[in-house]
Amino acid sequence: MPKSPGGALLHGFSIERDSPVPIYRQLDASLRRLILDDTLAPGQKLPSTRELSQELGVSRITVKSVYEQLVAEGYALARTGAGTFVSEGLDFEASPKFKLPRRKSRPPNIEISERAKTIMSSKASMRHGEIAAFRPGVPALDLFPIKSWNKYLLDAATCADRRNLSYGEVNGSAALRASVARHLTDARSMQVDPAQIVITSGAQQAFVLIAFVLLNKGDTVWYENPGHIAGRDVLQIMGSNVVPVPIDDEGMDLNFAIEKHHKPTLIFTTPSHQQPLGTTMSLARRLALLNYAQEIGAWIIEDDYDSEFRYRGRPLPALSALDSERRVFYVGTFSKSMFAAIRLGYIVVPPGLGEAFAQARNLLGQSSSAVVEQAMSRFMDDGRFVEHIRKMRRVYRERRDILYECLTKDCADILEPHPTDAGMHMLAWLKNGLDDQVAHLALLSAGIETLPLSAYCIEPLGRSGIVLGFSGTHERRIPKLVKRMSEALRSPAPIK
Ligand SMILES: Cc1ncc(COP(=O)(O)O)c(C=O)c1O
Repeated sequence: MPKSPGGALLHGFSIERDSPVPIYRQLDASLRRLILDDTLAPGQKLPSTRELSQELGVSRITVKSVYEQLVAEGYALARTGAGTFVSEGLDFEASPKFKLPRRKSRPPNIEISERAKTIMSSKASMRHGEIAAFRPGVPALDLFPIKSWNKYLLDAATCADRRNLSYGEVNGSAALRASVARHLTDARSMQVDPAQIVITSGAQQAFVLIAFVLLNKGDTVWYENPGHIAGRDVLQIMGSNVVPVPIDDEGMDLNFAIEKHHKPTLIFTTPSHQQPLGTTMSLARRLALLNYAQEIGAWIIEDDYDSEFRYRGRPLPALSALDSERRVFYVGTFSKSMFAAIRLGYIVVPPGLGEAFAQARNLLGQSSSAVVEQAMSRFMDDGRFVEHIRKMRRVYRERRDILYECLTKDCADILEPHPTDAGMHMLAWLKNGLDDQVAHLALLSAGIETLPLSAYCIEPLGRSGIVLGFSGTHERRIPKLVKRMSEALRSPAPIK
């Protein structure tokens, strides 16, 4: 199939008329190089001979004969009436004759900024790429009502006045902000004016915006240890001093932080379901945290990433719902309740800061689309969102139960699963003295994608564990996968 119905643009090459190399040869060599180095992909359509001859200012006969030569040698394929295409199924790598020097990811002499060096060392990209069993935080994508969602998407893209095809509103769609405000009242006991909401492209953009608007270089940020990897790394690269605060049975250990660290400008917490330990912050700790923040004038990020999924009792209201002094930035995401590729989330911003956030969102790349925002709003208003959450709650509860049962049965001597009442992942402590990085790699080579607890840590915990996502792995597969885990963890030897 042609990759582009109009043919490749080939803007990258030109003809040197002063060169002693004939035009025919220059064109031939350039096209071959683009095919060999995969710039022109297998199956991709070449421009028509007329277009290319006009663009390069060379005769059509020249272009035609180059194409014919490429076809004759098998680099390209001519399809009558359709055009000329790069051949498919050629394995140039296998043939030494065609071997090109590999492109290095970064040429040796290129200096990158200190900030970029920190970015390069981040482990946050672990959540990308092909998904293997037990990757943390992955919803049951196969159960997402894709047909229904596509209708909402299509409606939003084709609305009569084409309003959604523009940039949209500077703080995100008013309709979606109203839908989110209603949802937060219903699900999280929060009273929110839609004007306080800023739509983002997921929680990650929310953290970036908060850092941009609130933090100066060197400001202290208290961060849960262990804690959410991508949030921590982005606050660090923005120049703040991110310091670890341990977690006890009631959540973030406030007394420890007050004693050990400088006063914070910002405190990052996941009170509903601590990432990754799963602790729910007690009411007493929530009140203490809010009082402390108010007393010293600190801000709080409440990252409420997976509170939709609670399997026992009713969820505690959001921290933000108790926040009479408006110190909390409540951050929500649709990555877990819908799917991550939707790139949609939001911040409930304390009064007086909405304009600064809207401007920052605009300037830093308004990366959520007005089309998707509109579709999401309708999806929520029609009750589809809540319906999906209810279904997924049942599915995830069952997956959690099966995983816990299997781990207790088959891995009791090597893993100690930590029961969880909420969310999409479970922590299991390693009992056989294995380093969690080693365990993670051993499991990875067995096709199982857990995350090592140490990746979530600023300071080591003195105990190792792995984080297992249960939501995205079918309940029927879990028993077999746990058996495989058990084998891999008993003989973790050949790690490359
Ligand atoms: C603690 C936490 N917050 C937020 C998110 C969601 O990030 P985003 O909305 O950018 O996909 C995740 C995803 O894994 C998470 O683990």
